[in-house]
Amino acid sequence: CMNDVRDGGRQRLLVVANRLPVSATRKGNNWSLEVSAGGLVSALLGVRQFETRWIGWAGVNVVDEADQGALTKALEEQRCVPVFLDEETVHQYYNGYCNNVLWPLFHYLGLPQEDRLSCTRGLEDQFEAYKRANSMFADVVYSVYREGDIVWCHDYHLMFLPRCLKELDNNIKVGWFLHTPFPSSEIYRTLPSRSELLKAVLSADLIGFHTYDYARHFVSACTRILGLEGTPSGVEDHPLGKLTRVAAFPIGIDPNRFIDALQSPEVQTYVKELQEKFCGRKVMLGVDRLDMIKGIPQKLLAFEKFLDENVEWRDKVQLVQIAVPTRTDVHDYQRLTSQVHKIVGRINGRFGTLTTVPIHHLDRSLDFHRLCALYAITDVALVTSLRDGMNLVSYEFVACQNMKKGVLILSELAGAAQSLGAGAILVNPWNISDVAAAMKDALDMSEADREECHCHNFEHVTTHTAQVWADTFVSELHDTIYEAQQRIMR
Ligand code: G6P
Repeated sequence: CMNDVRDGGRQRLLVVANRLPVSATRKGNNWSLEVSAGGLVSALLGVRQFETRWIGWAGVNVVDEADQGALTKALEEQRCVPVFLDEETVHQYYNGYCNNVLWPLFHYLGLPQEDRLSCTRGLEDQFEAYKRANSMFADVVYSVYREGDIVWCHDYHLMFLPRCLKELDNNIKVGWFLHTPFPSSEIYRTLPSRSELLKAVLSADLIGFHTYDYARHFVSACTRILGLEGTPSGVEDHPLGKLTRVAAFPIGIDPNRFIDALQSPEVQTYVKELQEKFCGRKVMLGVDRLDMIKGIPQKLLAFEKFLDENVEWRDKVQLVQIAVPTRTDVHDYQRLTSQVHKIVGRINGRFGTLTTVPIHHLDRSLDFHRLCALYAITDVALVTSLRDGMNLVSYEFVACQNMKKGVLILSELAGAAQSLGAGAILVNPWNISDVAAAMKDALDMSEADREECHCHNFEHVTTHTAQVWADTFVSELHDTIYEAQQRIMR
């Protein structure tokens, strides 16, 4: 009944993700809220057509009940509902199972080797904590849930959530979407809890991925590991007569947020400042979370090779690398930070002059307006992830490039290669010489070619938006549930 599912005329959508779109920090007796980093947040901020509630981890440890109440109230204004996780659970679930096990595995970096295991407890303890955390999320979702709501679970942190929710009420409509790659079943099968996780996800009514390849890998993991049948529509469990629909729904951004911001006096002032600062030099830009999968060391090595081989460019190009710190309690991320600093130091030492350095490296995020200005004045964007579910930095760059029509160098191992590939220079990020050569090609590209590539990409980014993505997923979920009901009635 439509009256049940609508609130002020709009579908109620409960978006559940590990991280809320805002991160909280304590300021004396108050809480200050800031937009969180990452592709998932960037996309979901663009989804405006539903009556949305966000449910997620507050990102801070809050023990005191009065404090929890104050934070809950502050978040309410942002339509966010916090899940409070204790420190030990965060350590085992978030630092451990999510970011030391699933994240690297899904990006083809394998399971933790001994040195990565020894700094946390064994995989089994972490998996127990993971299930516990998922069930804590389910309890909070259920406390907000009204009949007719759609619950949309996101990402590798919450693979158990569809099952927990169906156990609470089998009638809840549940979708699950993965924002990372789903690896080949040859990689996935190494995971000790492989079957339990797959079965838990299959409790959802609809399962979504960014690309057709990820969906295909998932279906083949279900056939090979669980012995279920893969069909063109998804995964079928014959004895139970249950079909779980699996499909690809490529994500996008809210391009108008960027296009409109570029017109604002604030961004225009920043644009002028940056143009003056970098006058006479071409700007290459990297914007990444400081994560192994982003391939930052490899990108820096490629830039070093480019400078080595192209003496004429040495004083005429500036690399700006924004590296947003992330998951700083996880050992591999700490190691990566020092590795990146070491390479940046070496390159700046080798090629710097008394007044300039070739790499401008920042270990922090930029506010939205400064980021837009930086995207707008960039000549070449470097998105060279070793693997990436989609990568929305490439989309954000394109949205800001109507003035410059700069070049996008894009990893063929990022999901975005399938949508922006025709308007980008595609590279294998592991091939340092290839990436160095792409830098030269990008700087030499003719205006006509840049224009053509940009038009192709701009058209894609402005039509395949976050709104379209969410609409398509939610209407597919409605259809899937309707068809399942019809099947039962037959
Ligand atoms: C990726 C993941 C998101 C995650 C984001 C930031 O985009 O797919 O689920 O929120 O990284 O990572 P963090 O660990 O800081 O939430």
